[in-house]
Amino acid sequence: MSLLAVIGGSGLDAYDDLEITRRQDIETPYGRPSNELIHGELQGRPMVFLPRHGAGHRLPPHRINYRANIWALREAGVTDVIGVAAVGGITPNCGPGALCIPDQLIDYTWGRAHTLHDGDGTPVEHIDFTTPYCETLRQRMLSVARQANMPVQGQGCYGATQGPRLETAAEIRRFEQDGCDLVGMTGMPEAALASEAGLCYACCALVVNWAAGKAAGPITMTQIEACLADGMKDVRQLIAGLQASQSA
Ligand code: HPA
Repeated sequence: MSLLAVIGGSGLDAYDDLEITRRQDIETPYGRPSNELIHGELQGRPMVFLPRHGAGHRLPPHRINYRANIWALREAGVTDVIGVAAVGGITPNCGPGALCIPDQLIDYTWGRAHTLHDGDGTPVEHIDFTTPYCETLRQRMLSVARQANMPVQGQGCYGATQGPRLETAAEIRRFEQDGCDLVGMTGMPEAALASEAGLCYACCALVVNWAAGKAAGPITMTQIEACLADGMKDVRQLIAGLQASQSA
């Protein structure tokens, strides 16, 4: 039996459509996750929700306990994870408002506890990460989007930055040359840890601003918040469709 978890980012700190059944407090070998796991039902199917930044959005991207989050989800019996992320758009198809299900990533983060294979007496392990996102889950999301006539970018490269500051224009030019379409602060090490944990993980990225230097003027929180409010409705519609397709 599959069990879906949604890790919510900026703009998705609570999941109003979820009919909550219980809250689960899990202590992991890495400490506590960002929040209790919130179990509930969506479209008649069980689902788990975890707000990545914790209650009241208090954890900045580099302080999130990604290892505890992924460990706790696996401990709770989760099999599939959608990491929802608000991102900046770099390439023309990824403008504000666009939804993108990336198929690649580049990791520019540093200093984060990034592995479950930490040389703790067990043999060294190197996971294959050629395809960083679970293709089955990506294709399921894309098929739900097609059926609902939702425009979704089905490919793209997510550049994971350290934050919490936004980038310089030169950094974004470099990321573009590297092949990045999107830039965000929380995609790694989350995706790699999920792979290490054997979870089927995909990212659902909502573009909330043009990345630095891609539009005239500075990036403003007003602009980001307006995009978040509208775009997260699309994200929730996509996830509801996914849950409904599982029940059918
Ligand atoms: N850069 C990095 N992370 C982000 C951005 C951005 O422009 N927008 C939202 N998250």
